[in-house]
Formats: sequence, structure tokens, C-alpha cells
Amino acid sequence: MTIPADFPFEAVLAARADAVEAFLRNLLDDRALTGEIVRPAGLMAAMRHGVLNGGKRLRPFLVLESAALFDASQHAALTVATALECVHCYSLIHDDLPAMDDDDLRRGQPTVHKAFDEATAILAGDGLLTLAFDLIASGPSGEPLDGLLSAETRLDLVLGLARAAGVGGMVGGQALDLQAERLLPDETGIIRLQAMKTGALIRYACEAGAIVAGAPPADRERLAEFGSAIGLAFQLADDLLDVTANAETMGKATGKDQAAGKATLVALHGVDWARRQLSGLVEQAHSMLEPYGERAAVLKSAANFIAERRS
Ligand code: IPE
Ligand code: IPE
Ligand code: MG
Ligand code: MG
Ligand code: MG
Repeated sequence: MTIPADFPFEAVLAARADAVEAFLRNLLDDRALTGEIVRPAGLMAAMRHGVLNGGKRLRPFLVLESAALFDASQHAALTVATALECVHCYSLIHDDLPAMDDDDLRRGQPTVHKAFDEATAILAGDGLLTLAFDLIASGPSGEPLDGLLSAETRLDLVLGLARAAGVGGMVGGQALDLQAERLLPDETGIIRLQAMKTGALIRYACEAGAIVAGAPPADRERLAEFGSAIGLAFQLADDLLDVTANAETMGKATGKDQAAGKATLVALHGVDWARRQLSGLVEQAHSMLEPYGERAAVLKSAANFIAERRS
């Protein structure tokens, strides 16, 4: 799908989300793939509940747009985008568990452990995480990625996702986030934990499109740095919305971070500072994409969307 630069951002995001959702629905079918014995129906239902429940699909969008910037195969990019959304949804299912943020509402619906039970929610997260790597390694069922992506490129994508999702990325960031409730970090500590818990997957989203395209290292790095800037902005906006928005528009509980003693930049510096900081991060993100001119218009508007979003 080629998108004209003046297309309204929300419409592009929605079109991309539709493509990702169709792919996810197919992926989370009850039918076992070759090599699988059986897919337990209850587990699959919980996985679908945690994935096919709305969501902005921002990370897949970033994969697809960064791939489009380098004229990569959209089909290959869609596979990676879908895998990344599985990892994101797993992170949300586990983030909401009683042992973590203990939330009852996600994307306007009961969280997976509320709709099912805790053990099923844990396993649904585990299932999504592993499925993501299966998907990148093998391609969507019946349509191998061979011919679209070399084994070397797939290895790069798998390694990048593992690093972004793992102990030096999202999982490590979640651990630091919980630890910070007891021992409040300074600003540098907060930025580092947020770069890990949220930034790493968003950074990967932007870099992955360039990897799919086989773009030169300098372009990969530029897109990754753009991802880091908007990743930081994303969590800053999320923390801001926790203070300023309500549960109905967000589809999840708000006003909980302060009560839980969460270490956020909003708690440290206040709402006005956070808004100014967001504008600065958007400027910074835009300037990183300057070398691509108008071709990066949609990605640039993603930075604005992240900073200005209301849900
Ligand atoms: C929420 O992410 C979790 C954070 C990293 C703050 P999103 O705001 O992208 O959630 P969905 O996918 O749109 O529900
Ligand atoms: C979660 O951050 C980041 C993840 C790795 C899932 P939050 O705990 O602030 O996300 P929400 O507000 O529950 O979506
Ligand atoms: Mg959390
Ligand atoms: Mg949470
Ligand atoms: Mg939050």
C-alpha cells in the first residue's frame, strides 16, 4: 500500500491496523500448525482476548512505515510487524497481572487474568512471546518468508527482537520499574528504565523496517535513534495521560502511577515540564529524519501523534 504524504495520519494508522489485525486473526487460529500437536482452545481464546481487543497498533505501524521508507517488501514487513505486536500484547498481559500493576481494565475490556484466570494469562503471554519468534523464523503459515528475506536477515530480526524484549530491554525495564517503587531513581535512572521498558520495543519497531529492507547500517542506526526519541516521548505521554486523562478515553485505569509510587518524569518535574519536554522530543525526532525529506512525512507525523495523543 503506497500512502500519499498528505493522507490524514489517523487514517493511515487505521489502515495499517486493519492489515495487522487480519494477520493476527489468522495467526491465532485454533488450528495447529505443522509441528504443533494441538492448540488448547482455552489458551488460544485467552491469547485472542489479549490481542484482538483494539489497541492502536502503533509498533506494527512503525515497522511498516520504516520499511516503506526503504521500499521493502510490505508482506515481509507485515510479518515482522505482527510478531512485534504479539510481544507487545504479551507485555501488556503480564504488566496487568496482580503481581505487577494489578489492573482490571485494558483496551476498554477486562484484562486477560480477569476474563480468564491468572495462570491462563501468564501462559497466554508466554504463548504470544514464543509465537512471535516462530513467526519471524518461519513466516506466516503456508507462506514461508524464503525468497522475501534471507536467513541472515531473519536472524538479525530475531536477535534484535530478543534483545529489545529481553533482560536488557523490556523485561529488564519492567524489573527496574518495579524496583523503583521502593527506591526512587534520579532523572537519569528514570530515563534509562523507560528507555528499556517502553523504548526498546519502539526502537526495534523503527529499526526493523530498515533491517527488512536491507538498508545500510547508517540508515538502520538513524531509524533506531528516531525510535529511541519517540519511545521516550511515548512513555512520557503515557505517564502524562495517567495524570490528565480518564479511564473511559484511555480504556485502562488512570491516576494509578502516583498512588503506586511509580518513578516517572511527570512525578519528578510536573505536567507543564512534561508537555514542554514532549515538544522538544518531537523536534529532535523530526530532525533525525531530515535526510529523507518528504518521504519521511508519515513517520514524522507519528512523532506528533505520540506526543499529542489523547488515548
Ligand atoms: C501501552 O502501550 C503500554 C506502554 C508501553 C505505555 P500502548 O498505548 O501502545 O497500548 P495499545 O497497544 O494501544 O493498547
Ligand atoms: C508498561 O508501562 C510498559 C510495558 C512494558 C507493558 P505502564 O505500566 O505504564 O503501561 P500501562 O499504563 O499499564 O499501559
Ligand atoms: Mg507497568
Ligand atoms: Mg501498567
Ligand atoms: Mg502507564
